[in-house]
Amino acid sequence: MINDLSAFYSKNALNMKRSEIRELLKYTRKPEIISFAGGLPDPQTFPVKEIEEISCQILREKGNVALQYGPTEGELPLRQEIAKWMAAHKAGINPENIMITSGSQQGLDIIAKVFIDPGDPIIVELPSYIGGLQAFQAYRAKMIGIPQDNDGMKVDKLEKVLARMAKRKKKPKFIYVVPDFQNPSGVTLSLERRKKLLELAYQYQVPIIEDSPYRDLRFTGDDVPPIYSLDTQNQVIVLGTFSKIFCPGLRLAWLMAPAAWTDRMIVSKQSMDLASPTFTQLIAAEYMKRGLLQQQIESIKKLYGQKREVMLKALRKNMPKGVKWTKPEGGLFLWVKLPKNMSANQLFLKAIEENVAYVIGSAFHCDGKGQNTMRLNFSYASEEQIAEGIQRLATMIKKNM
Ligand SMILES: Cc1ncc(COP(=O)(O)O)c(C=O)c1O
Repeated sequence: MINDLSAFYSKNALNMKRSEIRELLKYTRKPEIISFAGGLPDPQTFPVKEIEEISCQILREKGNVALQYGPTEGELPLRQEIAKWMAAHKAGINPENIMITSGSQQGLDIIAKVFIDPGDPIIVELPSYIGGLQAFQAYRAKMIGIPQDNDGMKVDKLEKVLARMAKRKKKPKFIYVVPDFQNPSGVTLSLERRKKLLELAYQYQVPIIEDSPYRDLRFTGDDVPPIYSLDTQNQVIVLGTFSKIFCPGLRLAWLMAPAAWTDRMIVSKQSMDLASPTFTQLIAAEYMKRGLLQQQIESIKKLYGQKREVMLKALRKNMPKGVKWTKPEGGLFLWVKLPKNMSANQLFLKAIEENVAYVIGSAFHCDGKGQNTMRLNFSYASEEQIAEGIQRLATMIKKNM
């Protein structure tokens, strides 16, 4: 028997990093814990009845298609519906631009596989979505983090990095941004910065990856156009998903790219899963065709908007001076900053003792910094739990100040 299988692992496999969130979630499973840690939608938003009815209809009318393998790029009826959905922001988007993936997480893996050779530089935000970092790390990218403020990525800092790299005849393979109500920070990239980001992408000839699961979940403030809608040079790849606006259990998302770019991505998906599930694709297509998605989004926004209010109110009421937090205009998360000398990592187990959980902010930093930060999710817990959980968290923080 082989005792040490790791001696056989590839460099890529050895380089893969376990998701700290998934590790920490182990602690949050006790029923008495109020968890702000995961990024789960509230299951009461799932349209079970409608999905039941649509599923029965699909099985009755086209069970032979629904239960069969499908094309790697996805079922045409769904790609048509998504193209229409995306075309609301920009004319000329066709099904040829859309490729279905098994969750946006697979889209991220496809992007990493297609673009990254070991050691290739890429640009990410500080903080950035942990699943993106994990995918890029697995292909051994060299991640360069650009800090954020309340208007999103600091593009002046990005400009400096790109200029410095250009001097050495280098450039990143892509710039990865989550521009709307970012996971983890909740902040939105301002219009001015979106324009500047595109300008820099054109100047230095770098593709942008716009990963935007939350853009349709705006509760307050004015809409900011998606980056792809401002793009005149076909230089943006978009990741969209049904996970937060419909149901994550369908494992359906999409990648939108210039038609000439999708070929390599389709080939790379073939070796991953041949195709995403036909059955759930047909369900989602029918759901959209019936015009139910917009309605669903409206009801989700109402529920999460209220929960966000409850969390912000509880933070105002309970948190001691010196603790700061973002006020997201949409999405599922907000970001808490403790005073610089405090460590959210060290406090994590103390929070668990008080039966409340969060995710440590350093997990979202490619440079390992952000020790004094934490991410709080407000979509999953009930309003009562949010009020109680924030009180527990604030008491624990006060005790340890
Ligand atoms: C920014 C971002 N990208 C991608 C994903 C993955 O989503 P999916 O469920 O579509 O795989 C998430 C999930 O939370 C996310 O927040």
